[in-house]
Amino acid sequence: MGNDEESQRQVLVCQHVNCVANGSRDVLEAFLAIATSDFEVIAVGCQGQCNMGVTVRVLPDETWYCRVKPEDVPVIVQQHLQEGIPVDRLLHPRLHPRF
Ligand code: FES
Repeated sequence: MGNDEESQRQVLVCQHVNCVANGSRDVLEAFLAIATSDFEVIAVGCQGQCNMGVTVRVLPDETWYCRVKPEDVPVIVQQHLQEGIPVDRLLHPRLHPRF
């Protein structure tokens, strides 16, 4: 990893119709409430995984989380964004197949 700017992660939280219906505004609020300078939280449009929302995507890792609930946000922040370990149970099963 390089300097802070290069290593800062971005958390994309879908705010399109299906994800909103599944509570993505609350998920976004939960991320914003505990955001630190370690990562940036960005509201985005449809990520093409509507039937698995709420969709949360972490860059540059290209980690896709699905069916995220507000109560899942603290573990994503602590385990993934602070410790660098993706949260297995929330990974999108088609985009992160388990072997
Ligand atoms: S509405 Fe969120 S992925 Fe399409």
